[in-house]
Amino acid sequence: MIRSIELINWKTHRHTKLEFRKGVNVLIGVMGAGKSSVMDAISFSLFGTFPALKQGRIKLDGIPTNRPRVEEDSEVRLTFDAGQDTYVVSRKVFKNKKSEAYLERNGKHLQTQSERVTEEIESILKLDYDTFSRAIYSEQNRLDYFLQLRKGERKREIDQMLGLDHFATVEENTTSLINSIKNLEKEDAQLASGIDGAAIRDSISKIKGEISQAEKEALENGEKAKRLGEEVDAIRSDVEKARDENDKRIKIEKEIAEIESTIKAKKNETKKINDMGIDGKVVDAELAESTGREHKLSESSAKIKKEEIELQKSLAALHERMDLNTKKIEEKRRIEKEIGNGAVEELYAKLKECSEKMEKAIAEAASGSSRAEELKELIAELDRHKGVCPVCEREFEEGLRERLLKKNKEELESLKGKLVALKQETKRSQDEKEKIESQIKKLEKLSGRLEEYKDVERLVESDRKMVEPMVKKVRDTEELLKKNESELDGVRDKIRELKSKHETLKRKAELDKEIVAVEKDLAKKLEEHRSMKTDQDSVDALQDRFNTKNSEYQKVLAIIQESSKSLRMLKQQLKDRTDQLNSLIEIEKRIKARKGQEDLLIKFKGAIIETEGLLRNRLVSSINSILDSLWPGLYPYGDYVGVKLNAYNDDYSLEAGITIDGKEQWVAVDSVASGGERSIASLAMRIALGMTIVPNLKWIILDEPTHNLDSAGIGKLIEVLGEKLPDIVEQIFIITHDESLKGISYANVIGFERDKNNSGSTAIMQN
Ligand SMILES: Nc1ncnc2c1ncn2[C@@H]1O[C@H](COP(=O)(O)OP(=O)(O)OP(=O)(O)O)[C@@H](O)[C@H]1O
Ligand SMILES: [Mg+2]
Repeated sequence: MIRSIELINWKTHRHTKLEFRKGVNVLIGVMGAGKSSVMDAISFSLFGTFPALKQGRIKLDGIPTNRPRVEEDSEVRLTFDAGQDTYVVSRKVFKNKKSEAYLERNGKHLQTQSERVTEEIESILKLDYDTFSRAIYSEQNRLDYFLQLRKGERKREIDQMLGLDHFATVEENTTSLINSIKNLEKEDAQLASGIDGAAIRDSISKIKGEISQAEKEALENGEKAKRLGEEVDAIRSDVEKARDENDKRIKIEKEIAEIESTIKAKKNETKKINDMGIDGKVVDAELAESTGREHKLSESSAKIKKEEIELQKSLAALHERMDLNTKKIEEKRRIEKEIGNGAVEELYAKLKECSEKMEKAIAEAASGSSRAEELKELIAELDRHKGVCPVCEREFEEGLRERLLKKNKEELESLKGKLVALKQETKRSQDEKEKIESQIKKLEKLSGRLEEYKDVERLVESDRKMVEPMVKKVRDTEELLKKNESELDGVRDKIRELKSKHETLKRKAELDKEIVAVEKDLAKKLEEHRSMKTDQDSVDALQDRFNTKNSEYQKVLAIIQESSKSLRMLKQQLKDRTDQLNSLIEIEKRIKARKGQEDLLIKFKGAIIETEGLLRNRLVSSINSILDSLWPGLYPYGDYVGVKLNAYNDDYSLEAGITIDGKEQWVAVDSVASGGERSIASLAMRIALGMTIVPNLKWIILDEPTHNLDSAGIGKLIEVLGEKLPDIVEQIFIITHDESLKGISYANVIGFERDKNNSGSTAIMQN
């Protein structure tokens, strides 16, 4: 029994606490008051889910209250009894994290992890969510749900509820498996029909015969080829030997010809030398003499050359001295010209005149200076003795002193000018004097030089006399050297000629020696040549023999190659045929195996269909026997003897038993029943179905069962729900907005209210 539930922030429920009782619990209230939410909360507490959540119509984060204020989490707490124990399960839903769960038994903790809690409850109640949602919790407006469905859908839904849909799935899968096996079989049969097994077997035995014949021939040909190959190798080696010998012979012949031509050339050269008629002794004597002469001539040439160099040197020195003296003569002439015509005397006279002039100016200056001193004193006296004459000590007459003073001053001034002129004059004379003195000094130095150059003309003259004989001597020496050199050239030419003759004679001696050696070599080669037997003809004959034998050998090899090719082809054919045969055998095996599988599957399918039929019949008869026992309790009138479920091939039908003309007949409920009767029939069907699926059915939840019912129907339902159903099911939950259901006898009525205009939360009124 479900004792109570507490909802915190669960959709419209801020904090709702509901107590339930055995028998009928009516949850009543206006549209949107939060009634169905309580049933979702019961399902969620027990199994962690509810239909709308399972089918994805709502998400977990849509559960926590979001108006008028947003809450981050919701909580539900359900208390229920099972056996002797009381359990409390609570679950918390969060917007952004995984849900939490907690389960306790008789106040003691049992489980915490969400999935574990669900598993534990399933085992306590012996009920899982699927069964709960099918048999106990029918969602809103679904009481006559089965009557509303169309044929095929109804069949599928009821089969699903009874768990018979699995049979249909297995059946379908088996059929498609059988079909695909059949298709494969068909493909294989088609493949097999394209292969002629007998023909392949014939062909295999024929090819095998051909192969053994070909292998025999190959063996014979192989032996023949081996023999021929050996012969060919032997002849080839003979040919090579003969060819080598012949090559050797040709080589020796070539060498002999070369030697003979060498001997001929050497003998020619010897003859030419002999024809020259050179006498060796004469040549040697002449060479000795000429060499001596050459030595002497070279020596005298060297001596003359030395003499000539000495002479040239003396001549150059003479010319040098003459040039120097000639320059001295020129300078002498120039000096003579410079000091000539009494220039020195003239300078002395000028010097005297200048000295006199200077002395005179000095004397004049001295007397001038003393006069000036006098005048200065006089002027000073005149200034001191204003009234008396300083000379005569007489009184001055009027203006005399001034006149005297003026006169003296004028004289002093003119004297000063004169003294300056005299000083300048003295300086000028002094400069002139110095200049003349330096000129005199220079001229006197030049006179000294003239003394040095006294003999230069004589010296030049005596040198000039020496030049001519010396030049002649140089020329004579040169002439002598030329003569000597030409003679030396002649002697040297002769020596060269004699040496060449000497070399020629030496070469002849060598040639004689060489001819002897080469002739010896020739004799040896000729001997060797004579001993040689193989010639080109014998080589050619051997080569012909080789060609003939080799072509015979190549033919046999070609035959072997050809027959090995055809043997390979035969073997390939044999392999191909064998493969074909094997694949045929394989296909035949496969076909047989598939036939077996197919038979098995057909049998299996038959068994499934049979089992499904049996099970369906059994379930339907179980539902019907429950309906039989329920019906008199639920429906107290005699017009319908009962309701039963009938299973057809393609549908289920809920039928009512009526008596026509004293005869019991079963007709579809929809065709005879009123709305109320239809609802009670549907209710009976739901309970029977629930009890069949859950043998120990304790709860049933009906959400808006009065939907589609008229007031008479509602009246009948109230009666049944209040008075009959509690005898069959321990606890019934009815959700409704229909106030009349408050009249259900002994019901625990819970009122739901909500200020929907202001998104208010659910308020509860429980008596
Ligand atoms: N997260 C939520 N927070 C607040 N209100 C919600 C939330 N989710 C749904 N609702 C409101 O809850 C009400 C639906 O509750 P519920 O289905 O339990 O009502 P009801 O009483 O069964 O109504 P009806 O008789 O029409 O079936 C609606 O008014 C809906 O707007
Ligand atoms: Mg509702």
